[in-house]
Amino acid sequence: MVSLYCNLCRGYDLEIFRVDNISYTYKDGKKALDSVALRVRAGESLTVIGANGSGKSTLLYILDGILQPQSGEIKAFGAPLNDESVEFRQKVSLLFQNPQVQLFSLSVWDELCFGPSQLGLPQEEIERRASDILELLGIGHLKDRGPWNLSGGEMKKVAMGTCLSINPDVILLDEPTTGLDPRSQVELIDLIVGLRKAGKTIITATHDLGIIQDISDRTVVFGEDHRIILEDTPWEVLKNTDILLRANLMHKHPHRHSWYVHEHSHTGLHEHEHIPELIPSESSPERAPEAAQRIPEMEKLRILLDHWMEHNHEHAETYIQWAEKAGTAGDATLAEMLKEIAAETKKIDALFERARKKIGG
Ligand SMILES: Nc1ncnc2c1ncn2[C@@H]1O[C@H](COP(=O)(O)OP(=O)(O)O)[C@@H](O)[C@H]1O
Ligand SMILES: [Mg+2]
Repeated sequence: MVSLYCNLCRGYDLEIFRVDNISYTYKDGKKALDSVALRVRAGESLTVIGANGSGKSTLLYILDGILQPQSGEIKAFGAPLNDESVEFRQKVSLLFQNPQVQLFSLSVWDELCFGPSQLGLPQEEIERRASDILELLGIGHLKDRGPWNLSGGEMKKVAMGTCLSINPDVILLDEPTTGLDPRSQVELIDLIVGLRKAGKTIITATHDLGIIQDISDRTVVFGEDHRIILEDTPWEVLKNTDILLRANLMHKHPHRHSWYVHEHSHTGLHEHEHIPELIPSESSPERAPEAAQRIPEMEKLRILLDHWMEHNHEHAETYIQWAEKAGTAGDATLAEMLKEIAAETKKIDALFERARKKIGG
């Protein structure tokens, strides 16, 4: 197997990135980053969250050396970032948000051999690495396929494979779970957790609040003004509803179904509150339970399915939070059980969707 052990962080506190007050504006005048400062130490796993357009991808491009900030300073491994140095290219790898950007070879196999061949490794070692990656990501069946006719999720896995094929110490992941089915998402999270344990430094940009506790030690929140508005543990960030609302990462609104009303915030946290005693809606001024009796069964099921789907994700997050509490209290077995429940819960999203499609409406 490819050794996923990190070459850099053998127990000492090396700073991988030191970003000081960088700003970046695209040529057409679109601002992407404003006075961003950040430190990343070896072996850390950091998540960067923020609404669409807040600057997450731009930050990763800058950390990968693809873009240079117009102002501010960025150091990598203790020296000004030099993306042309062979050493930097061997140590840092970026998974692009859009995997199509990353894939260009005639087959998945060639794609996975490309990075190691650029490192000048012997042919035998190149092929061993490519085989290991196929196995690690469960994509052996795609070996001879052309990357251009894979599904979005398959492409994402292959792109992840190309990132890992050079065995980088620092991995930059841009929206790694986007486009993956629920099971692949869980597998990818497990992979990131494995890379973390192997001591890799990982920076993940995501707007999926549901994964940040699983995969990171620290979370940086971008505001829509392209500045960092909070940096804390994932748990503290998830609890900070004011900041999440400000960053446009959650929204608060009341739902008005036919026979009950509930109001809640949509985030990874389970904090909605049902009000079953029923505020009659304008369209049905009768007492709600009577109105409910007149709703055809299928219609009730449709409403319920919508509701279950909506909250399944939040429930999974609650289980993860309680798993963390159980872990902190020293009950590792219970923590593992709750994590497993969370993983299983996420998997049934697809089943809900199928049932919902079957009913239609
Ligand atoms: N190639 C580009 N040219 C012009 N503007 C861009 C380009 N890429 C991103 N932007 C703009 O920069 C801002 C930040 O984008 P981005 O870093 O992609 O944010 P995020 O990854 O958080 O969605 C947005 O306003 C976006 O429209
Ligand atoms: Mg992005």
